[in-house]
Amino acid sequence: MKIDKRDWSFIALVAVVLIVFISISGKETTKPVPNDVTHKSVYDEAYKNAPTTDASFFKKTFFKPAKKDAEKLCEPCHTANGVKFPPNHPPKNRCLFCHKLQK
Ligand code: HEC
Ligand code: HEC
Repeated sequence: MKIDKRDWSFIALVAVVLIVFISISGKETTKPVPNDVTHKSVYDEAYKNAPTTDASFFKKTFFKPAKKDAEKLCEPCHTANGVKFPPNHPPKNRCLFCHKLQK
């Protein structure tokens, strides 16, 4: 079988799609918020309204951590402690969209 020009463009297209796919799927590397003593205040704030173990099933299912309140703590403390953002850091108004809380 002879590979003509049309075949080569098809092969090129498949290659491009593959490369894009691989580069997107490798993106989930943003560091989570460390679950340590330093970040305890963040977790306390986020889970301040967490339902107790005897709360109704409904309350537990639909509970969402208070991320917006917790996010207010991040930058002031990082600045105070000289924690640097990487130079290419993306826009950082919603920390917890990207830096996930750990369980
Ligand atoms: C009370 C102070 C404080 C608060 C509040 C805080 N941080 Fe930090 N954070 C630090 C310090 C200090 C470090 C440096 C590493 C360490 O000592 O844990 C750090 C490091 C980090 C790191 C890097 C961890 C690593 O493995 O290199 C991430 C990511 C981070 N913080 C995210 C957040 C986010 C997101 C918030 C808000 C939801 C937040 N931090 C709130 C003090 C704080
Ligand atoms: C749009 C997504 C996004 C948002 C919003 C965001 N970050 Fe990041 N952050 C990243 C990425 C991507 C990196 C680099 C990859 C990594 O986590 O090492 C990074 C890196 C960091 C680091 C350095 C981690 C290290 O390697 O030591 C810190 C600290 C940090 N972010 C804190 C914050 C804080 C605090 C906020 C909110 C004020 C915030 N980020 C908001 C995506 C985000």
